[in-house]
Amino acid sequence: MNAPIGVIDSGVGGLTVAKAIMELLPNETIYYIGDTARCPYGPRSKQEVRTYTWQMAKALEKMNVKMLVIACNTATAVALESLQKHMPFPVLGVINAGARAAVKKTKRNEVVVLATEGTIKSGAYEQALLSLNTKAKIIPLACPTFVPLVESGEYEGKFSYDLVETGLMPLQEERFDTVILGCTHYPILQKQIEAAVGPNVHVLSSAEETAKDVEAILQYNGQLRTDEEKPKHVFHASGSVPIFRSICERWLNQEELDIRRITF
Ligand code: DGL
Repeated sequence: MNAPIGVIDSGVGGLTVAKAIMELLPNETIYYIGDTARCPYGPRSKQEVRTYTWQMAKALEKMNVKMLVIACNTATAVALESLQKHMPFPVLGVINAGARAAVKKTKRNEVVVLATEGTIKSGAYEQALLSLNTKAKIIPLACPTFVPLVESGEYEGKFSYDLVETGLMPLQEERFDTVILGCTHYPILQKQIEAAVGPNVHVLSSAEETAKDVEAILQYNGQLRTDEEKPKHVFHASGSVPIFRSICERWLNQEELDIRRITF
């Protein structure tokens, strides 16, 4: 029960989920892997994303995690089922949580899903949303420029607002009251996305709902951490550690994080 929770993503996006877990469960330890060397996953084939996701899951299995959160929608869409079948601990994705957050909020049942090309092509959000609300009208939009912007670390300033506005142009003629950030990188651009869609639209991520799922699973399994010592989180990146560190420290508002290089 004092083992860490594993959290994986193609890069820094999963930090948005890790942060929500840290806020809801401050006593839990997180071991994070960001596959920054091979990010973005969005344009990659299903097979590639599945292989990379399995490599991260296996690395965390060796580190003795008690559960795994696939904090990446693209990876959830292609690898959740197989990992749930074969890993010796609970494995959670982020797509059902994102769909649930949207269904709770939408009044008009008009929901935009912003995500990577891989997630949009998989149809996983449509499936999750329609299983919760058969009346939902879903407007999917892939935003391939957003992840490289976030991973560059240069996601503040006017340029980022312009880039997001351009990416969201196809929504101009659409009617909707809710936007799901169906890629875990996108909450880092929440301000820019809110500015582009205007004030009457709810912009939601899956992070908080996922953290609630983590709590429920650990509670149910009697696996919440009981150790009173402060948790020591460990972050791994397969690419450049300095850029990863700067984004991690800014986003989590913490300094001197334990960040290590990982190779696959
Ligand atoms: N953050 C990931 C997601 O939620 C993947 C982004 C990418 O690597 O393209 O889909």
